[in-house]
Amino acid sequence: MSQPTDYLDLPRESCKDLEHIPGDNGKWPVLGDTFEFLRDYHTLAQRKFERYGPIFRNSALLQRNVSLIGPEGNEFVLKDEHKIFSSKMAWDPILDRLFPDGLMLRDFDEHRFHRKILQAAFKKDSIQGYLNVMNPKLTQGVESFPKGKTFGFKDSIKVLLLDTAAQVFMGVEMGKEADAINTGFLHAMEASMAWFKVPLPGTKWRRGLQGRKVLENFIHKTIDQKRATESHDFFSQFCHAKDEDGNLLSDQAVRDHIIFLLFAAHDTTTSTLCSMIYLLAKNQDWQDKLRAEFNATGKDVLSYDDLQSLELTALAMKESLRMYPPVPAIPRRCIADTEIMGYRIPKNTGVGISPLMTHYLEEWWTEPYTFDPMRFSKERSEHKRHFYQYIPFGGGHHKCIGLNFAEVQVKLFLFQLLKGHRISVEEGYTMQYNSVPIQFPTDGLPIRIDAL
Ligand code: HEM
Repeated sequence: MSQPTDYLDLPRESCKDLEHIPGDNGKWPVLGDTFEFLRDYHTLAQRKFERYGPIFRNSALLQRNVSLIGPEGNEFVLKDEHKIFSSKMAWDPILDRLFPDGLMLRDFDEHRFHRKILQAAFKKDSIQGYLNVMNPKLTQGVESFPKGKTFGFKDSIKVLLLDTAAQVFMGVEMGKEADAINTGFLHAMEASMAWFKVPLPGTKWRRGLQGRKVLENFIHKTIDQKRATESHDFFSQFCHAKDEDGNLLSDQAVRDHIIFLLFAAHDTTTSTLCSMIYLLAKNQDWQDKLRAEFNATGKDVLSYDDLQSLELTALAMKESLRMYPPVPAIPRRCIADTEIMGYRIPKNTGVGISPLMTHYLEEWWTEPYTFDPMRFSKERSEHKRHFYQYIPFGGGHHKCIGLNFAEVQVKLFLFQLLKGHRISVEEGYTMQYNSVPIQFPTDGLPIRIDAL
């Protein structure tokens, strides 16, 4: 772990010396474009891209920032050949009090060290173990969804994924303890979106900090027992994970990685299932294709290997993640002077790339506003025109470590839901949604499930 850490002494406020870069400082003094950024990030970024091109400066959330739009900028930042883009400095202001020292909040050699250790928990054998826990949970969940009447899908899937997470991540059986953990986690998640970060009574922030405490207490109370046994959950896997010299992670590292993992997995998977369900309800032909693929397995319960045969489902998931990437923008902080596209980027500049914008660039995608999963087929492989044009899971050093797990969970759920049911939305319905910080339907996503 030889990487210097003196960059962490850089001012928390990012560099403002950006006047030589095309762009503007937004509509409002101090606040810049904060309101439009939160309300309609896609339109804002599109307008600036059309006006200024693939690199522009902007101002939102009390920070000046440089946006890079498109595969070239994505590659520069994510590949980070010169080790100058800090993930920690960019994410810390949003996450460090609630989710400190998670993998995404570590940089360079220290990050690589921890990532290597955690990787064991995402290998095929481990995922097969989680799958055995998830299968019955998701089956029961689908059974409990209302049938024959309209209901809000977003809240229902959120609850189901939370219940599943208590078992798969923490290894807690349902009951009182799982309820307390779920509530603590929900409060911490809600607080991560809070603007007012003073723990006054009744505030989201205070509830969030208390929620984190509940999770911490549970982990500290259980860790000795977890280290003494082995079970099919991430908590247990992290307790037994070792570095190259055979050393175990410290109790504190296990705790911080688990709590961060819950955070990284939950809203992203909920968002993915919302957009997939919406797109499949709007595109009944694709729903039929997936149903036929599920029926062709001849199974009631799927194994890890069965999941690999669900090729059309994988294409539909890819296309949903292209159109609605759950993480629409990825921030970094540049820790040394650099240059891209002919412009100097000074040290300590906030730099953002955009999966959402990149996924709609007409230069790289055919009819990007059309739902067309076959663009990802082997024959067409539209996403392979540039290695960094399709980045729902990011890329490079911090590429999502849970991407296979996410695909397994999504496929298992859709299998249980679509095999024996049709999902629909009302004629003419268009999903209303917010892009940042995570793409979510703002209208709860009203859908209907009918038994076939
Ligand atoms: C479809 C669902 C998901 C999407 C779209 C997604 C997206 C992302 C993205 C874009 C990043 C990179 C962020 C950055 O570079 O700043 C990331 C990182 C990460 N994701 Fe996911 N994620 C998903 C599901 C999951 C799941 C299920 C888990 C855990 C089981 C997970 C765990 C993580 C972790 C630990 C990181 C940090 C990796 C690192 O810093 O090395 N994610 N994810």
